[in-house]
Amino acid sequence: MLDHGAPPRTPRTAPAPVGIGTRLMRRKPVERLVAEGGQGEGGSLRRSLGLWQLTMISIGATLGTGIFVVLGEAVPKAGPAVTLSFVIAGLTALFSALSYAELSGTIPVAGSSYSYAYATMGELVAWVCGWCLVLEYGVSVAAVAVGWGEYLNELLDGTIGVTIPDALSAPPGDGGIFNLPALIVVLLAMAFLLGGAKESARANTIMVCVKIAALVLFCAIGLKGFQSGNYEHFMPLGMAGVSAAGATLFFSYIGFDAASTAGEEAKNAQRDLPRAIMLSLVIVTALYVLVAAVAVGARPWQHFSDSEAALAGIMKDVTGQSFWATLLAAGAVIAIASVVLTVLYGQTRILFAMSRDGLVPKVFAKVHPKTGAPRANTVIVSLFCGVLAAAIPLGQLADATSIGTLFAFALVNIAVIVLRRTRPDMPRTFRVPLSPVLPVLGFAFCVWMMGSLSAITWIVFGVWMVVGLVFYFCYGMRRSRLSQDPAPAAQK
Ligand code: ALA
Repeated sequence: MLDHGAPPRTPRTAPAPVGIGTRLMRRKPVERLVAEGGQGEGGSLRRSLGLWQLTMISIGATLGTGIFVVLGEAVPKAGPAVTLSFVIAGLTALFSALSYAELSGTIPVAGSSYSYAYATMGELVAWVCGWCLVLEYGVSVAAVAVGWGEYLNELLDGTIGVTIPDALSAPPGDGGIFNLPALIVVLLAMAFLLGGAKESARANTIMVCVKIAALVLFCAIGLKGFQSGNYEHFMPLGMAGVSAAGATLFFSYIGFDAASTAGEEAKNAQRDLPRAIMLSLVIVTALYVLVAAVAVGARPWQHFSDSEAALAGIMKDVTGQSFWATLLAAGAVIAIASVVLTVLYGQTRILFAMSRDGLVPKVFAKVHPKTGAPRANTVIVSLFCGVLAAAIPLGQLADATSIGTLFAFALVNIAVIVLRRTRPDMPRTFRVPLSPVLPVLGFAFCVWMMGSLSAITWIVFGVWMVVGLVFYFCYGMRRSRLSQDPAPAAQK
């Protein structure tokens, strides 16, 4: 029997077989990346974020553990010249931020640098970049959540006089069994994100205001204890110390690119993303240099020790009252929670884009029809980060995060140069000045910083990349939508 209701079949031509080299180098056309923007499995992301919220997302993701906790690790490496280390790390971030600004305005999609690499350097490099972003976002959420636990203990101690015992507030290797607070903060962030991007952005904005106020308060009080004598030996450990501290402190700049992951939820992405990225970096750098200068002025550099709640300690020293330290700890608890929230947000959006391209399982691109949030994605990522945070010590995580981020930033600088050559006429809402000089400088700074990280960090990074490549060749390469789809890839 004939089925008259069925639509007529159109003959399909199978895609011509292509060699592996061509597949790995296949680029996704910018127009296609942009056209797919917002679309997920079973629903779309919603465009609800303006310039203010986007800037707050980037500040929210950046300002946190680096200044409240990692500063304490960096000072013993550089002495008072830690201020210079902040400037160097900030410069590295600045060059790369310019490149992010140009590309986020040109290719405003959720995948951020992963998608920029896909459009310019092909699928394999894009995958490598996306895999590095998992270090930048996913692993840094874990690192940051651990710092949150340290300040929570400081706060509990100052208010009710109890602290969470080591067994429940530190991972194995740091004298504990399980870091419960770290897991809790990740689960709290997950709850906000499941409510949708707009609600999360609103909560984040309030938290960002609190953290800026806490740092301004620190500067005001810390200045009272400022002793210029603390600056007498400005660079006691030489330039090597300054650059080693800079590499560690680079962690504190990670996150300025978070706004670029909101490319599919921004109301006017092309106009607002570049502005949000640059604005947030300027605000954050100014605060960092100021806070570091005051901190080293108020406490001799030899008295900083690894990973303790350094700023709260200084407040206590200067005022002689634990009230101010407790207030700062409360600010830090809120501050660091906002990093967890926004970085977790970024990670889910990057995986969303990778999933849409077929490189990771489809479940990451499923969108909840009511909230417009990728629900399953958010739950999976949160559980992964929460367990990681609860089980691994912070120091090792922070450096591993920095190396992955620096690698991704280096690729973004190259992507700007490539896209200028291959698509010179594309409309750009922001252009990196003096290109290719500044992107090349950005690239060089990233490589220099990577070189300053320890051998163990490189080993962790190497193992991470091998795992990523195995996953790509066993899964992503076979399922990639671009290599299955007969529509032409970018040729230039
Ligand atoms: N830059 C973020 C922080 O310092 C990761 O917490």
